[in-house]
Amino acid sequence: MDDKEFYLDAIRDVIPETKETQIQNVFYSFLEMEHLYDSAIELVKTQLSIFDSEFSMRFQRNPIHNIESRIKTPQSIVGKLQRKGIPVTPENAQRCLTDIAGVRVICCYIDDIYAIADLLTKHSAFSLKKIKDYIQNPKPNGYRSFHMILEVPVYMSTGKKFAPVEIQIRTIAMDFWASLEHQLHYKSTGNATVAATLTDELKNCAETIAETDRKMQDMFKQINML
Ligand code: GTP
Ligand code: MG
Repeated sequence: MDDKEFYLDAIRDVIPETKETQIQNVFYSFLEMEHLYDSAIELVKTQLSIFDSEFSMRFQRNPIHNIESRIKTPQSIVGKLQRKGIPVTPENAQRCLTDIAGVRVICCYIDDIYAIADLLTKHSAFSLKKIKDYIQNPKPNGYRSFHMILEVPVYMSTGKKFAPVEIQIRTIAMDFWASLEHQLHYKSTGNATVAATLTDELKNCAETIAETDRKMQDMFKQINML
């Protein structure tokens, strides 16, 4: 089923007695919403690459290793609203979900993460809605990353609109860990004993990785003082 059919079905489920023209209008609002979030992502990515190129010009190195971004799929927007027991409408999606637009910034060193977070926080156009520092306070499973939600203004032909963007900033090593942990999360229904052992091993790896990240940071500083 394509995205359009998926949205239309979800809308019909929630408001079954609604006329087809109204359903098409709701669908159009979803399209507008996706465009808004896509645009907000582009603005954040552009600002990040400006920071990165400026660092490169001034200090001959790039704090950002790479940037990934994604917009939540219609299936996952609808699924999350349904799980939360919220009626599926574009307004509710915008009001209740702050992770429709996501940007992941992968850095080489821990200090770079805080430097990027600080620059984004100080950016006068973006307003900071939330911070979760899972580097200072790792999750019990070992997950580390710096999360922030920024409200980003987007100038449309009809005026200024705002979209929240979830930004995850982490080192290459933290990202490597999170990808594998994510896979385990999705496959852990298979064999509970193996999954429990792997969860323990992942937790140990997270500690090793954190220690390595700290050592790499330290050596980087020492190398730069040579
Ligand atoms: P969600 O409702 O799941 O988005 O969680 P939340 O609103 O409590 O936000 P949180 O900042 O904890 O997590 C948001 C995102 O961070 C998730 O969608 C994942 O991409 C990532 N994340 C958080 N915790 C973990 C974790 O334990 N493992 C992995 N691999 N990723 C995580
Ligand atoms: Mg999420």
